[in-house]
Amino acid sequence: MPVEFHQKSGEFHLYNDEISYIMEILENGHLGHVYFGKRLRDREGFRYLTEYAARDMAACPFEGRRDFSLEHLKQEYPAFGTGDTRYPAFEIEREDGSRVVDFRYLGHHIYQGKKKLEGLPAVYVEDEAEAWTLEVTLEDQAVSARIVLSYSIFRDYPAIARSARFVCEGEETVTILNGMSGCLDLPDKEYEMLELAGTWARERHIHKRELTYGIQGVYSMRGCSSHQFNPFLGLKRKETTESAGEALGFSLVYSGDFLAQVEVDNFDVTRVVMGIHPNEFRWELGPGEAFQTPEMVMVYSDKGLNGMSQAFHGLYRTRLARGVWRDRERPILINNWEATYFDFNEEKILEIASKAQELGIELFVLDDGWFGKRNWDDSSLGDWYPNLEKLPEGITGLARKIQDMGLKFGLWFEPEMTNKDSDLFRAHPDWVLADIRRPYSHGRNQYVLDFSKEEVVDCVYRQMKKILEEAPVSYVKWDMNRSFSEVFSNGKDRSWQGKVRHKYMLGVYSLYERLTREFPEILFESCASGGARFDPGMLYYAPQAWTSDDTDAVERIKIQYGTSMVYPVSSMGSHVSAVPNHQVFRNTSLDTRANVAYFGTFGYELDITKLTEEEQEKIKEQVAFMKQHRRLIQQGRFYRLKSPFEGNYAAWMVVAEDGSEALLAYFRMMQPPQGKFERLYLTGLEEEEEYEIKEQAGAGEEFGRHYGDELMYAGFSVSDFSSGLGRKAYELQGDYFSRLYHLRKMDSNN
Ligand code: DGJ
Repeated sequence: MPVEFHQKSGEFHLYNDEISYIMEILENGHLGHVYFGKRLRDREGFRYLTEYAARDMAACPFEGRRDFSLEHLKQEYPAFGTGDTRYPAFEIEREDGSRVVDFRYLGHHIYQGKKKLEGLPAVYVEDEAEAWTLEVTLEDQAVSARIVLSYSIFRDYPAIARSARFVCEGEETVTILNGMSGCLDLPDKEYEMLELAGTWARERHIHKRELTYGIQGVYSMRGCSSHQFNPFLGLKRKETTESAGEALGFSLVYSGDFLAQVEVDNFDVTRVVMGIHPNEFRWELGPGEAFQTPEMVMVYSDKGLNGMSQAFHGLYRTRLARGVWRDRERPILINNWEATYFDFNEEKILEIASKAQELGIELFVLDDGWFGKRNWDDSSLGDWYPNLEKLPEGITGLARKIQDMGLKFGLWFEPEMTNKDSDLFRAHPDWVLADIRRPYSHGRNQYVLDFSKEEVVDCVYRQMKKILEEAPVSYVKWDMNRSFSEVFSNGKDRSWQGKVRHKYMLGVYSLYERLTREFPEILFESCASGGARFDPGMLYYAPQAWTSDDTDAVERIKIQYGTSMVYPVSSMGSHVSAVPNHQVFRNTSLDTRANVAYFGTFGYELDITKLTEEEQEKIKEQVAFMKQHRRLIQQGRFYRLKSPFEGNYAAWMVVAEDGSEALLAYFRMMQPPQGKFERLYLTGLEEEEEYEIKEQAGAGEEFGRHYGDELMYAGFSVSDFSSGLGRKAYELQGDYFSRLYHLRKMDSNN
């Protein structure tokens, strides 16, 4: 059984083929942490790994004993004020203001499978044999509260999902001031911390820093997981590369405020905590009530960062994303945003759609500007009925016409927002998430709706449902374009105010849940001013997300490379857009734009009616190429090969699960004068197998047949002058150059 409890020693051991997670009941009844890493043989007696020390100034709970101090012991879910002076996993306050707690082991429960988290997104199993769960209950008798720590280990992934549930058992109200999803104490600090950081139009760039004493971490207090930081944190050994070495990944299945923090104490012990950000969080728990934290997923890899990422990709693509679209090839779409912005009418839309249909595109997405009186960003959010001046036959009429052309129809919403110039705001000025007794800020001329209130969510739900029922809508893009500012829930009492940021997220999740359940065939794509809510929480409801508003191919190489640290290719919305690019005004070839966008859900976002015949022909070819290869791209095993954060080049590849084929992408930012020889060391191939290599979407050059071992160990040359392309090679060179190669295993039919 992959979860063992060794009664005599009080040790728990969770393991699968790749990893082990060990904890123990400490002498004072608290839960201690022993080990997380490569799989160990199960046995009783890992307690020798628990290190004690009598250190000056340390607080010790046992009279006459100086070597037992929580300040120096590794713990599972530590509290503050118990001697441990490091950052705690939780903090609760009693009615009299006391924050002193003493949570001890009460019992545990082991079962096959994994339970749902009510109202929250979480990794799931389809068959109970896919995971085992251990729930350990801790109790503080004086407070009459319990904490249930849940750990699920997966059969097929080196991953453990954790969360905590607080239950108020007594007569007294307890207030949770901080409730992290999990904590991990590691025995040394010889790690580099990886974070995905950025801002609008440059989301999820990979940043690396050596751990040092004190606190370091990432967070959001913006109401969404944010452009600035992602709810992910990685720890890698200095020598770990993409393909070898140890790496730990921590990912929070949540879309709101979060904290992901590493603390190194002065004895080099590293503590990771992750959960809802405690800022403005104050959750009163009355008698009989419970509070469930979001889920945190921890991955251990000894196969480098690619090993860590592939575990997240597999788990999140197949056991976090849900619904019929989870396993389907994603439709190639055209979105009108960068083609028209707010300036369109039915005629223009139909013109684009008709051209799209000619080129083989499958889905037309109508973006912002179709509702209320919306011709700019200062009006109508919240009024989800069609603007009949622009679209005389409404959404239903337009959608039908597009459907008759043989395309599917998709529609943009921004459900969580309103403008002051809207019928919704005029009717309910107190529905904004702001203290309306005083001035409050706008963001992009809009205001956040108070989704902590059920009636607000219901009103938006009714409007969306009406449109989705009446019109043949196959896809919804759910946007969210501003951060929170003066958060206050009007008309609610003091205790509500401490809950409002999390209740807002629960409101968003409940609306997603209702709509996805009622419209199971609709493909949802989440979006937040580009990629401000590209997180695992959203993936549970929407299997794809708009990666960034930056559609420039060169910038996208970095954004998609960074995003792939955690998120699968199938989740990354990626479009070919116009040149000069609208965000960075750069010119790149249509080939390079597509070569980047292929590694995602793929689509177009430009006025294709304005393209030359030659460009339209090329798009036809690109669409056909993507149709042929999208299963491989979206469901294959993705490997990062060369980081755009480290030089002038980038490369990645995707290998089919059955190994029959692969696609290799190589990108060069600047053309070097007399470039040096460039060799890529491929990965994920079978040493003994022979592969036929052809260049795709370029000159179509054949690169002969090579064995897996040659390609992985001797390498594959992508040098400027060794390709044998002759004159053509010069024509194809220049800045922002890219190549795509298809590898076919010789005994396969692909
Ligand atoms: C921000 C999104 O990221 C864009 O793609 C677009 O939908 C605009 N909002 C529309 O307002």
